Amino acid sequence: MDNIMNSPAYKAAREKAQELLKKLTLTEKIGQLSQFGNSIYSSEEKIYEDHFREGKVGSFLTLRGAEKTNKIQSDLLEMQRTPIPAIFADDVIHGYRTTFPTPIAQSCSWDPELTERCDAAAAKEAYAAGLKWTFGPMVDIARDPRWGRIMEGFGEDTYLCSQFAAAAVRGFQDNGKTPLLACMKHYAAYGACVGGRDYNTADVSLETLHEVYLPPFKAGIDAGAATVMSAFNDVNGVPATANHYLLTDVLRGQFGFKGFVVSDAGSVGELIAHGFAADPKDAVCKAFSAGVDMIMAGDMFNDNIPALLEEGKLKMEDIDRSVLSILTLKYLTGLFEEPYVDPDGEKIFFCEEHLALAREAGAQCAVLLENNGILPLKNVKSIALTGPLTHPCGQAHLLGGWCGIADPSRTVTIEDGLRAAIPDANINVIPGATFVHMDKDDIDAIASDAAGSDVIIAVVGEENGMAGEAGSKADLELCGSQEDLILALCDTGRPVICLVSAGRPLVLSKIKDKVAALLNIWQPGTEAGNAVADLLTGKVNPSGHLTTTFPYTVGQVPIYYNHPSTGRPASGRWRFESKYMDCPIEPLYPFGYGLSYTSFEYSEISLSSNSIAADGELKVSLTVTNTGDYDGAAVVQLYVRDLVASRVRPVKELKGFKKVFLEKGASARVVISLPAANLAFVNSDLEWVVEPGQFKLWIADNSADERFEFDFEVR
Ligand code: BGC
Repeated sequence: MDNIMNSPAYKAAREKAQELLKKLTLTEKIGQLSQFGNSIYSSEEKIYEDHFREGKVGSFLTLRGAEKTNKIQSDLLEMQRTPIPAIFADDVIHGYRTTFPTPIAQSCSWDPELTERCDAAAAKEAYAAGLKWTFGPMVDIARDPRWGRIMEGFGEDTYLCSQFAAAAVRGFQDNGKTPLLACMKHYAAYGACVGGRDYNTADVSLETLHEVYLPPFKAGIDAGAATVMSAFNDVNGVPATANHYLLTDVLRGQFGFKGFVVSDAGSVGELIAHGFAADPKDAVCKAFSAGVDMIMAGDMFNDNIPALLEEGKLKMEDIDRSVLSILTLKYLTGLFEEPYVDPDGEKIFFCEEHLALAREAGAQCAVLLENNGILPLKNVKSIALTGPLTHPCGQAHLLGGWCGIADPSRTVTIEDGLRAAIPDANINVIPGATFVHMDKDDIDAIASDAAGSDVIIAVVGEENGMAGEAGSKADLELCGSQEDLILALCDTGRPVICLVSAGRPLVLSKIKDKVAALLNIWQPGTEAGNAVADLLTGKVNPSGHLTTTFPYTVGQVPIYYNHPSTGRPASGRWRFESKYMDCPIEPLYPFGYGLSYTSFEYSEISLSSNSIAADGELKVSLTVTNTGDYDGAAVVQLYVRDLVASRVRPVKELKGFKKVFLEKGASARVVISLPAANLAFVNSDLEWVVEPGQFKLWIADNSADERFEFDFEVR
């Protein structure tokens, strides 16, 4: 398929870049490989001017806004000997000014096209602010909710994450006149950091690396991702930022990546702390030789590459290759023709279209975990609204992490959303709840006030800073006294609707059966209150399904649905099997789980054949009927299990899905294709193979649903 990296425009850009490259001095070349942050301006003026004059700056990060970027760009272009515009980069992770739900939330929509639309909108806003490059999408597979960065990715499943990775790249880049170069991060296996401790070591077999952690990167590269970011962690003892195997052999050699690699912030210097490089010069040598093209952020390349060339430790042709790929992308984004942006373009921030999309996305991403029939709300006269996220500070927290340029004052609060949606209801907003310890008296006071209303809505969860980078947590229960608050509210006898807003799966086992409804709203973004009100009132029927397993207790972590088959699968029938003695075998909620206000029936399920060739395709057809009282969307999931193989296979693997919207009473025939190629796995020789043999197949509503089981074989 056509994308910017295989377009005729790419070829033309490369030719222009080749011409320009010939004119550059060594200093100017290395400058193109160097990115700087804000601090270059806080340093002494002379340093910044010298850098500009000598051409030592190729890119900026987190400098944004049309006025600011235009000014810096014009200073740079005026001062440089050879005028080369800088490329401005930023973390546009889930929106720019208009904030969409966090990526983990977006994945729960099971609608990659929704992410494509959100990222296209984000790209338009970011482009208007002078940016041409985002540090996203993050496509790290995350199986450990203690890792705060789980919020930035698309969940625990490789197949699903790969679909979202490609969609995000298309959304950012294939965006007509406003392409924002994507950056697949963090390459690689950052999500495998031990114990979910950020920046920590990843010890993964090469088989697992290739089968679980790398495919989303490959999917993004196939969709045309222009850049890749090397991760902080080491992978099997070699830091990702100095990992020749990952950055050169696999990324360029196997995946055919043509763009450039930027190191994560400080990760080149950190090679010293890793004990992998002796000093800054050694670190630069190792990172660059491994395949890092651009350094984020600072002078380490400027300061060390000349000597490394003189000593013969680096080669000029490799420097040229890196510079060429950076210049090519600068040409491709149109920077040379138009290095500035029109400040009027910023009028697009928070435009109606983007707000409508944020509202739609906010509702599509929420996952209904429990409902005793209280939802959707009908004829409700009075509501007590409480919990720490109802207060004004909730406006920031409902946006989630990684939204540095968002405007929390624009966030629609849950209160405002409810008041607009149910104007006749009496809404009693009860302050006092916090994320930290609360005295029993204060909790009781909130509960007794709340008892005066028909229904209680409690908005609990996490502050936005509790997830994201360095947001690792050892405890996944609701922090502070939030659990006690919910239980006290339940003790009033009034139905409690609990809205959980967090960046990660939380442990909700103590409140699950006490509340009347449990809706995991994640961090929905700018339109939070409206999106949530749409769901509570039934204007929108929840259709989100989990993309990460929700543990029963933190001690089960890591717990993920597609774990390898053991010799002692847990059944609970005897002692000597793979399980914990002191908690249930199952998680609290399985991958793929999510309720709706309506019900769906799957019938007439048929397989096109019960035997397919290793290069063939199976088609699974079924009728989905909306048998309940509300219009809504079903997420039909297809799982397989390879029964006998040359390497132990997962107990179950997602290999297809379809989201189908049906009016109440309506039916649709749905076909899900399963190319045999999708049954391939990485064997012990690190080759992708489809091995003949017997498979099980499930059509399911979630990963634990085994009502519809079939057999087929691969010949
Ligand atoms: C993060 C990256 C991010 C970069 C620039 C780093 O600390 O790990 O994900 O893109 O900062 O903000």
